[in-house]
Amino acid sequence: MTLDEIRALDENYYMNTFGARLPVAFDHGKGVTLYDTEGRAYTDFFAGIAVNALGYSHPAVTQAIVEQAQKVCHTSNLYYIEPQAKLAKLLCDNSFADKVFFGNSGAEANEGAMKLAVKYFYEKGEDRYEILTANNSFHGRTLATIAATGQKKYQKPYARLLPPCVKNLPFGDLSALRAAVTPHTAAVMLEVIQAEGGVIAGTKAYIQGVRALCDEMGLLLIIDEVQTGMGRCGKLFAHELYGITPDIMTLAKALGGGLPIGAVLAKDAVASAFHPGDHGSTFGGNPLACAAALAVLTTMLKEDLPEKAAKTGAYLKEKLQAVAAKHPQAVSEVRGEGLLLGLALQPERKAGDLVQALLKKGFVTGTAAGNVLRLLPPLILEKTDCDALCQALDAVL
Ligand SMILES: Cc1ncc(COP(=O)(O)O)c(C=O)c1O
Repeated sequence: MTLDEIRALDENYYMNTFGARLPVAFDHGKGVTLYDTEGRAYTDFFAGIAVNALGYSHPAVTQAIVEQAQKVCHTSNLYYIEPQAKLAKLLCDNSFADKVFFGNSGAEANEGAMKLAVKYFYEKGEDRYEILTANNSFHGRTLATIAATGQKKYQKPYARLLPPCVKNLPFGDLSALRAAVTPHTAAVMLEVIQAEGGVIAGTKAYIQGVRALCDEMGLLLIIDEVQTGMGRCGKLFAHELYGITPDIMTLAKALGGGLPIGAVLAKDAVASAFHPGDHGSTFGGNPLACAAALAVLTTMLKEDLPEKAAKTGAYLKEKLQAVAAKHPQAVSEVRGEGLLLGLALQPERKAGDLVQALLKKGFVTGTAAGNVLRLLPPLILEKTDCDALCQALDAVL
């Protein structure tokens, strides 16, 4: 089908939740290159919103998916599942966690994390159910995760449906957090680097302060690593950059390399609050998604992609800073860690315009918070790809 034919079908039959999409339909990809339906090639700096960490058609992931699909895609969690058990072990072996639960998305993982935190106190006979989150955060699109997402624009139409015991507080403000804690507070949930919110990193003092506050007040700390995790920020999990350990961590996006999977990870003492029937999912952790995720994580560890992301990210950041210095009328700041980078534009500029212009030049990029150009390339990106993007960016600016 041509792009126009696809667009006509979409406009007629798809709910208008995404507005006018970018004028391209990708047909296939290899490495960091995507090809559209008209055969044009693009270098990908967005990875399907931080999903395709290993790029496209990675042989290990493709082989795992094909082999599993030829055996069985789904059996349900009524039965034992080999790739699920292996993936759970590999995640625990490489994180602070002892136990894992698999769902299908980031929002579902965060819902699971909030349920687990509240159930933990329920088991202890403590009446704690409030969750404190940050303004400008993003945790998902389900009702509880919209409540957790500290952005009024997402909450307003559904305000009456949102759980009132989820409170949003200023990101970076430890005193406000302390003041909001009540005898009913169960947990704090945060992204250490707010990604959708504009690539805004929490300071070490703030994130370590939150950990200390949780310890002092007996609260659980949930770190949402849906976007920052799986090597993106230069460590397997971004909280490692801060020298802290969460009580619960959520993952999704890059974990499945393109197949839908989300995960809730916790230490035994917390995870054991879930008893049979407390949580579940039909599709979550199915053989196909787990086989893909197992191949993703195995490859990521074998090739030390978090370290590669740290090195390539540092190179790209420096190059972007040089471009930014040439265009102070357009760019105010380059920020982020590893390969989660943001080019903050001057207030009157729209990052969407830059995304359109870069697309025309053969580069896929994205936005965050309106006027931040967000870069989330596959972690296999090479320095030459960074050079090419920066040259195009310079020309476009
Ligand atoms: C930090 C964070 N948490 C949760 C989500 C929601 O994930 P999903 O869209 O898979 O539900 C996102 C999505 O962008 C995210 O960036």
